[in-house]
Amino acid sequence: MRKRSIAGQSLLLVAVASSAFAAERSGEDVYAAACAACHGSDGRGASPAQTGLSLEPLDFTDCLLTNREPDQDWRAVIAEGGPARGFHRMMPAFGEVLSEAEQEAVLGYVRGFCTEPAYPRGDLNFPRPLVTEKAFVEDEFVLSTAVATRSPRNVASKLVYEQRFLRRQQFEVIVPFGVAKMADGSREAGIGDVAVGAKSALFASVDTGSILSVAGEVALPTGNKDKGFGKGVVVLEPFLAFGQALPADFFLHLQAGAEIPIKEASDVETEGFLRGALGTSLTSGKFGRTFSPMVEAFAARELASDAPTFLDIVPQLQVSLSRRQHILANLGASIPTLRREGRFARVLFYLLWDWYDGGFFEGW
Ligand code: HEC
Repeated sequence: MRKRSIAGQSLLLVAVASSAFAAERSGEDVYAAACAACHGSDGRGASPAQTGLSLEPLDFTDCLLTNREPDQDWRAVIAEGGPARGFHRMMPAFGEVLSEAEQEAVLGYVRGFCTEPAYPRGDLNFPRPLVTEKAFVEDEFVLSTAVATRSPRNVASKLVYEQRFLRRQQFEVIVPFGVAKMADGSREAGIGDVAVGAKSALFASVDTGSILSVAGEVALPTGNKDKGFGKGVVVLEPFLAFGQALPADFFLHLQAGAEIPIKEASDVETEGFLRGALGTSLTSGKFGRTFSPMVEAFAARELASDAPTFLDIVPQLQVSLSRRQHILANLGASIPTLRREGRFARVLFYLLWDWYDGGFFEGW
């Protein structure tokens, strides 16, 4: 087949599309007329040999690949073309040639190519708070840091790696590290208690906007306890995490669990915790940068009788940095509110990379 230039092909499509859509069409009709030439009538992507394109579009029937994408990202790509989310400009913009209703209809049709409902949908992937763990299963690297606002200004960081497996499962590895002031006034850097964990979504529904997961972590005593980098004993952390979409782009995260040392240690008690975050997402323009202000609260209490409850409030702002929205940053402050003696505010920060969505330097 003779190769056409990409620009020529897009123009042709736009011409076909604009004459064909005088009246509103169903998602199936729109797809057949405007998308199937490149994406294939079965959604698997027409081969480069057929389209003359140098890039093969993604396979819409691959649920693991497509279900993670929130509708809003696909709306952006359909309306404004690939570059709206840092993808290739071979994916044309349809905002001018399809009505809003047709864009929604074709989005719904494209969603139908994945016929396996067990994969949690990206619309349940609410912005990640600084402390509360999400119910959604992820493929992410997160580097987070807490800096004490008062002397000795210890810095506690951790690198979290998360990877999905099966349909709704995820494992993770957490490597804490930090810099702490020693009794003699010197500063020392060290690795803390490395933890591994797994999570499984029990329930996920875009209709109700809810997701519930069960998870467990095991923290190993790899840190030097004498220098304050670890607990010196294996600690199990089972928890439940719940996420709920609310009206007006608000969302809620809840997490409840416990930290249980597996053998008696005089200074490590079983601790119960409850965490939650309420936030909303705002975008600049229709499909631009996303800002997600959140207020988070977390409480912890040793389960021994009459132990005090600690409570911190964490106002924060998450911002998407890349166009693809796969690199995000969050900055906030953890403010002690109950049992404040000896506890001070900390500045919290993370940088998050959703590595499945593309390389760190792709999609800007
Ligand atoms: C000229 C060929 C072409 C046409 C026509 C086309 N697409 Fe695409 N589309 C692509 C290519 C190529 C990509 C992959 C871009 C990349 O990976 O950088 C893509 C990507 C996408 C994506 C995925 C973005 C992501 O998250 O990976 C969606 C959704 C999409 N197209 C929907 C549509 C819909 C709906 C239509 C019809 C209204 C359509 N496309 C028409 C070529 C096309």
